[in-house]
Amino acid sequence: MAGFPLKIPPQINRLILLTLGIVGSYLIARYFLTPATFGQYGWYRGAALEEIASRTPVYAGKLACDECHSEKLEMLAKGKHQTLSCEGCHGVSSQHAANPDILPVKMAGSHCIRCHEQNDSRPTWYKQIVVKDHYAGKCRECHMPHNPTEVPEEPQPADQAAKEEKQKPESPEKKPGAVEKAGKAEKAEVP
Ligand code: HEC
Ligand code: HEC
Ligand code: HEC
Ligand code: HEC
Repeated sequence: MAGFPLKIPPQINRLILLTLGIVGSYLIARYFLTPATFGQYGWYRGAALEEIASRTPVYAGKLACDECHSEKLEMLAKGKHQTLSCEGCHGVSSQHAANPDILPVKMAGSHCIRCHEQNDSRPTWYKQIVVKDHYAGKCRECHMPHNPTEVPEEPQPADQAAKEEKQKPESPEKKPGAVEKAGKAEKAEVP
C-alpha cells in the first residue's frame, strides 16, 4: 500500500512532464501568434473587415450601367435573363463605366454555352441544351441576348455573324435571321 506522499512511478512522471511541455508550448505559441484584433467582433480577425473594405471594387455593378444603357437594364429585367449581371456576360466594365471611350472587351465565340451547355452538375431548373442537337446557327440569330426568349428582327450590327456574312457572296434566298449553315440539317423553325 502506497503511503503519503504518493509515490508516482517514473514513467508516469515523464508522461506528465511531456504533457505539460506540449500544453505549455501551445499556450506560449498561441500568445505570440494570435493576431491583435482576433475576437474583436467574433471568431475572426477584426482588422480583416477593414482590409477587405479598403480594396478597390473591380466590378461596377448593374446600377453603374443605368446612366447610359437604361434601355438594356429594362430589357434584361423583363426577360429570362433578369437574374444575370451585365458584367457576368460583358466582363469587368468599371473602366468603361468611368470612361466610355474604353470599350468593354469584345466577346468571342459563343459565350452562351458557358452557362447553357448540358452539364449534369447543374440544377435541373436550369435550361440546358445539347449544343450539337440544338438548332444550327449562331445563338444570336434566334435569341436576343438581353431577352433570350425574343427573336431578333435582324442580325445585330455588332454581330460577329453579320460581319462574317458580309465577306461571303450574297445568296439570293438570304433572309435576316434565317439559318444558312451549309451542310447542316435545316431544322430551324424560328418561333
Ligand atoms: C457614361 C456612359 C456609359 C456608362 C456608365 C456605361 N456605358 Fe457602355 N457604352 C457607352 C458608350 C458611349 C458606348 C459606345 C456606343 C455604343 O456602341 O452604344 C458604350 C458601349 C457599350 C458596349 C458595346 C461595346 C462594343 O464593343 O460595341 C457594351 C457591351 C457596354 N457599353 C456595356 C456597358 C456596361 C456593362 C456598363 C456598366 C458596367 C456600361 N456599359 C456603362 C457609354 C456608357
Ligand atoms: C446573357 C449575356 C448578356 C447579359 C446578361 C448582358 N448582355 Fe449586353 N450583350 C450581350 C451580347 C451577346 C451582345 C451582342 C454582342 C456584342 O455586341 O458584343 C450584347 C450587346 C450589348 C451592347 C451593345 C449594343 C447592342 O445592342 O448590340 C450593350 C450596350 C450592352 N450589351 C449592354 C448591356 C448591359 C448594360 C447589360 C446589363 C443590364 C447587359 N448588356 C447584359 C450579352 C449580354
Ligand atoms: C451567366 C450565365 C448565362 C449566360 C452567359 C447566358 N445565360 Fe441564358 N440563362 C441563364 C439563366 C440563369 C437563365 C434563367 C434560368 C432558366 O430559365 O434556365 C437563362 C435563360 C435563358 C433562356 C430561356 C429559357 C427558358 O425558356 O426559360 C434562353 C433561351 C437563354 N437563356 C439563352 C441564352 C443565350 C442565347 C445566351 C448567349 C447570348 C445566354 N443564354 C447566355 C444564364 C445564362
Ligand atoms: C435557329 C434558331 C435557334 C438557334 C440558332 C439557337 N436556338 Fe436556342 N432555341 C430556339 C427555339 C425555337 C427554342 C425554343 C423551343 C425549343 O426548345 O426547341 C430554343 C430554346 C433554347 C433554350 C431553352 C431550352 C429549354 O429547355 O427550354 C436555350 C437555353 C437555348 N435555346 C440556348 C441557345 C444557345 C446557347 C444557342 C447557341 C449555341 C441557341 N440556343 C441557338 C431556337 C434557336
